[in-house]
Formats: sequence, structure tokens, C-alpha cells
Amino acid sequence: MSADDHFNLEDAYAVSTPEENKALYARWAATYDAEFVTANDYVYPIRVAEKAVEVLGQSPTLEVVDVGCGTGALGSLLSELRPTWEIDGVDISLQMLAVAGTKVRSDGKPVYRDLLDADLTKPIQFAKNHFDLIVSSGVFTHGHLAGRDLLAVSSAARVGGTIVVGINKQHYDNVGFAGHFAEAVSEGQISEPELTEVDIYGPKSPHFGDKGLIAVFTRLDN
Ligand SMILES: C[S@@+](CC[C@H](N)C(=O)[O-])C[C@H]1O[C@@H](n2cnc3c(N)ncnc32)[C@H](O)[C@@H]1O
Repeated sequence: MSADDHFNLEDAYAVSTPEENKALYARWAATYDAEFVTANDYVYPIRVAEKAVEVLGQSPTLEVVDVGCGTGALGSLLSELRPTWEIDGVDISLQMLAVAGTKVRSDGKPVYRDLLDADLTKPIQFAKNHFDLIVSSGVFTHGHLAGRDLLAVSSAARVGGTIVVGINKQHYDNVGFAGHFAEAVSEGQISEPELTEVDIYGPKSPHFGDKGLIAVFTRLDN
């Protein structure tokens, strides 16, 4: 890991436990927006926000949770596209959440209603059967969260709620997301996920070409 509090994608992919994630993002929070989001032309949150809006349309009042919200890249975009939606953020890193808490919309209101500190690899305590919509970008990736975590996180949605989540394409294959989805579909927990391939980074990025799959599905049971 970098010694001087400047981090990159290799550092992000080198972690493997929640404790290592916490330690990395505690030090990365201050520079993440400038040195990761902007410097890498990180377009993934835009693609996930656009997909959520495409799927949910003009629904006037939705309760949304951005899981692994980090510094608020996805929530900030979504709050501009749908200012009437109430967005909460959940993350394991207090330092990333502190940056997210500074984010305001163009109308001056905070991007996030509530920001919650939780380890999403543990049983989900922050909400059960509650949210109309779960969104996420950059969290279901190497060294971070896996397929079983996504299904556990889905329990924060109400029955009939929608999940719109980006999954790194290599990670999807490496850790067997398809098998977890097939089992959850066969048990009637979720609808068959629709997958859309998107770029994670724009053409100005050294990582241009890395792909994500945006999974869209509905929570079906209790
Ligand atoms: C690459 S960042 C993505 C942040 C933001 N969603 C974005 O797209 O910019 C990954 C985030 O996942 C969070 N994270 C990693 N492991 C976690 C866990 N076990 N529980 C909750 N959040 C976690 C990190 O703290 C970090 O904020």
C-alpha cells in the first residue's frame, strides 16, 4: 500500500478483509474525490444513477439507500436527477462518511438524509424490509463485497423494492455471482437479475476498458 496517503486502484484491489478496507479508506478519504474519481474519469456512479432513474422513472417519493456510499459520488448524482428522493448512505469507513456528509445539492440541501456506519459483510442491522431502492457503485468488486453480501444487503429493501447495483465484471465471474443469483431466484427471494454491461472509467482513464455489470432486480419475499 502507498506510504504517503496517495492511493490508486491497485491499493483498492489489494485489500481483502473489512478491517483492511477500513484502514485503507480511513487514509484515502481526503484525496479520494480528486485522485480517484476525477483523475480516473470514474463514470460508474453516473451509469448506475442513470440506470436507477431509467428503471424507477418519475416516482415522486422514494426512500433510497446507497450501500458503500463512500464520499458520495453516486448519491450526489442521483440527488440532482431526483431531488425528491430521500437518500441514506451506509459505509464501513467513518472518514468516507464524513466526506459524504459535506456534500450538498445545487439547491443547497444535503445529498444524504442519514449516514450510517455499518460493515455490510455482517448481518444487516441498519434496516430490514424498508427501502424502495438500493443503489451501489464500486463496492461489489475485488477485495470488497461478494455475491452473498449483495443478497444479504437486499434484505434492506422492502418486498417489491428495486436493487440497482454495479458489480465489477471480473469479480462477478471470479466469485460466482451468477450462482448466488440463480439460487436466490430459485428460492423466490429475488427476480431474475437483468445485467447491463457498462464502462467503469471513461476514455481519459488509464483503466479505460474495465467493465461493470449493473444488476437490476426486485426483492420478492420476506
Ligand atoms: C471504491 S469505494 C466506492 C465508493 C462509492 N460508492 C463510489 O462509487 O465512489 C468502496 C467503498 O466501499 C466501502 N466498503 C468496503 N468494505 C465495506 C464493508 N465491509 N462494509 C461497508 N462498506 C464497505 C469502503 O469504505 C468504500 O467507501
